[in-house]
Amino acid sequence: MKKDSRILIAGANGMVGSAIVRNLESKGYTNLIKGTRSDIDFTNQEDVEKYFCLMEPEYVFLAAAKVGGIMANKNYKADFITENLQIQTNIIQQSYNFGVKKLLFLGSSCIYPKFANQPITEDQLMTGSLESTNDAYAIAKITGVKMCQAYREQYGFNAISLMPTNLYGPNDNFNPETSHVLPAMIRKFHDAHVNDSIPLFWGDGSAMREFLHVDDLAEACYVCMHHYNGEEHINAGTGEDVTIKVLANIIRNVVGYVGDIAWDTTKPNGTPRKVLNVDKIKALGWEPKISLQEGIQSTYEYFVNHYG
Ligand SMILES: NC(=O)c1ccc[n+]([C@@H]2O[C@H](COP(=O)([O-])OP(=O)(O)OC[C@H]3O[C@@H](n4cnc5c(N)ncnc54)[C@H](OP(=O)(O)O)[C@@H]3O)[C@@H](O)[C@H]2O)c1
Repeated sequence: MKKDSRILIAGANGMVGSAIVRNLESKGYTNLIKGTRSDIDFTNQEDVEKYFCLMEPEYVFLAAAKVGGIMANKNYKADFITENLQIQTNIIQQSYNFGVKKLLFLGSSCIYPKFANQPITEDQLMTGSLESTNDAYAIAKITGVKMCQAYREQYGFNAISLMPTNLYGPNDNFNPETSHVLPAMIRKFHDAHVNDSIPLFWGDGSAMREFLHVDDLAEACYVCMHHYNGEEHINAGTGEDVTIKVLANIIRNVVGYVGDIAWDTTKPNGTPRKVLNVDKIKALGWEPKISLQEGIQSTYEYFVNHYG
């Protein structure tokens, strides 16, 4: 990728897309094509074809997707599978058709089986049943991985796939109906702090999760775009996990909330433990730099400045 290469960031207004834009701009890339919903609906095949014809990207970061937390994934399965299949199929296909040099597809660690051996190595894909709450989303993402591999095998198209763990950071979604666990907790603790109420969380807090700051992920995308040309998808995470209870305590301290916490144990915990093996991406020279404490602190500051 040269500094003046035409680089499409599909989903440039999203949390990941905007972090990739920040990362590339900070490195001096000058020819970024910021693919946002106001310019293009990536679910529409004809429009995507016209868009690629007009924009002529040389490199593509595929960060546009329908994304949501456990509740959204469970309640809107049809939308999650349909829109994600449409977006990724259109972008991968047109990237190949219009001679894109390399494409990076962003999947998610939910592609792995519910009871995968921990830490999860890349080779555990499709070795067991998926977590049922987000199986529709996961199947779409697995299809994206397989599509990249198929285009590589049949047409020699350089498409790679990166599977990030749970992400957080600036531009995250803090809507309690659709957000992931970490931003949802920030919002609920903040509201409880301001309103003198008690925050209620799903599950019993025993599930273990890994969290990666989105700026570390953006650097992982950059490193993979430069140095990874393998057929197999590649994990991106910290390789370290915490219980949801520990996460709650970190956020509670950052927010300054001193009251009680309520756990709704009638609601699902989701997969009991999920931490990625990140040996493969670390071998490329990448490693996360932002600690969970530091990342939550700056994300809370972002939240207060934008929504507080
Ligand atoms: N967030 C996480 O914790 C996480 C973890 C692992 C993997 N990932 C992966 O990272 C990628 C990006 O996620 P994210 O967290 O950045 O999500 P996000 O903040 O929701 O960003 C997704 C972006 O895609 C855009 N988009 C959705 N449908 C579109 C369409 N039909 N046409 C044009 N644009 C469309 C959205 O636009 P609007 O804002 O207008 O809807 C949004 O800007 C996804 O592939 C996701 O699976 C995320």
